[in-house]
Amino acid sequence: MGRLVIEGGRRIDGEFALQGAKNAVLPILAATVLNGGKNIVYNCPELSDVSSTIEVLENLGCKVVRHQNILEVDSSDMNSHTIPERLMRKMRSSIIFLGAIIARCKKACVSMPGGCEIGQRPIDLHLKALRALGIEITESHGYINCVADKITGADIHLDFPSVGATENIMLAACTADGITTIENAAREPEIMDLQNFLNRMGARISGGGGSVIRIEGVKKLSGVEHTIMPDRIVAGTYLAAAAATKGQIILNGADCTHMSAILNLLSDMGCRIYREEARVILTANRRLLAAATVKTMPYPGFPTDIQSPFMALAAIADGTTIFIENIFENRYQHVDELVRMGADIRLDGRCAVVVGAERLTGANVVAKELRGGAALVVAGLAADGITTIENTKYIDRGYERIEDYLALSGAKITRKE
Ligand code: UD1
Repeated sequence: MGRLVIEGGRRIDGEFALQGAKNAVLPILAATVLNGGKNIVYNCPELSDVSSTIEVLENLGCKVVRHQNILEVDSSDMNSHTIPERLMRKMRSSIIFLGAIIARCKKACVSMPGGCEIGQRPIDLHLKALRALGIEITESHGYINCVADKITGADIHLDFPSVGATENIMLAACTADGITTIENAAREPEIMDLQNFLNRMGARISGGGGSVIRIEGVKKLSGVEHTIMPDRIVAGTYLAAAAATKGQIILNGADCTHMSAILNLLSDMGCRIYREEARVILTANRRLLAAATVKTMPYPGFPTDIQSPFMALAAIADGTTIFIENIFENRYQHVDELVRMGADIRLDGRCAVVVGAERLTGANVVAKELRGGAALVVAGLAADGITTIENTKYIDRGYERIEDYLALSGAKITRKE
């Protein structure tokens, strides 16, 4: 199992191009099965979650060729409608293949995603919505079986703006008979990227990025080329790394319009932010100020995915910050590890009270999930002495060669296998 070793206390000062967004590339790769054609997807980050998605595609009979950050997916010879347990367990978000497979094959069989490290993550909203489209769903022996003679457009109201459920409905409905509307749809920018990809294929979808999405079913979709949007969560993490070390960072390709909640908070904490077209610059030259309260919310609220890296900032800021995690009930697993590094954090259910310390100290810590692992990297960069982070496999799910980008920006960080 790999680990990262960080000699903390060095100022981050760097400039690089931002990787493509994990949460956009995964549903877009799932969408390639819809058209039975050749697709070229640019700016695919090198992540283990992308490798897992490629494994799912290959298991379905698609041909996938990778040239660095370009993926060619040919779904013309797709010959399976099943995702086995082994692959579903690797990556829960494979559930977004369900809508795409049922639309293409009129049947789908995927293993139940099972429990996950950041919370229960039920899929009831996905299944209820797919049933509304006329898909018959049965659950047995740990598998979800779907069949549909015909998928029919419907008016769907989501009780919660679930990202995955919104994507599954878009995928299932784009070749349905008639019109589907999704009310209370997720508004995350990655939904817009999926809409753009599907429309380029020939789908007729409007409203992505807003609360009501309209999908007019079409008969045929064709192969396309598409460039994945920049990763706003990875951007937030590198901005946090610079802020934690009183440093500076320039992120090329960043879309500031997707990051208002993150950038406003950094600004409130005393960082200087320069929002430019297709890049963001942060400079921090003094101790951070605590933000009063950080509440995670669906987009455009503060993203749950960046809560943990920002808790590492709060741990060294001047004053007290209260975090309220409203999206995933078990997203505080980094807290014990930050406390090992000298952070003063008290947990009470979904609420964490963080009293900023003058400094953190390096320690041996363990990443327990993706973003919590990133929080430990941010903390390690700022801490005095050496921090060793075990379980880099979690970080590698969402951050492309994190140690290379940080080392190029002045950090002393190495990976040990
Ligand atoms: C996606 C992102 C993840 C991000 C999350 C919230 C991807 C691959 N992952 O995950 O990084 O943290 O959005 O922004 O894009 N829920 C239900 N029933 C359902 C579905 C969801 O109760 O059927 C609940 C979940 O338990 C959670 C909330 O809704 O409390 C949000 O989940 P959702 O938006 O679906 O997250 P994901 O799509 O899994």
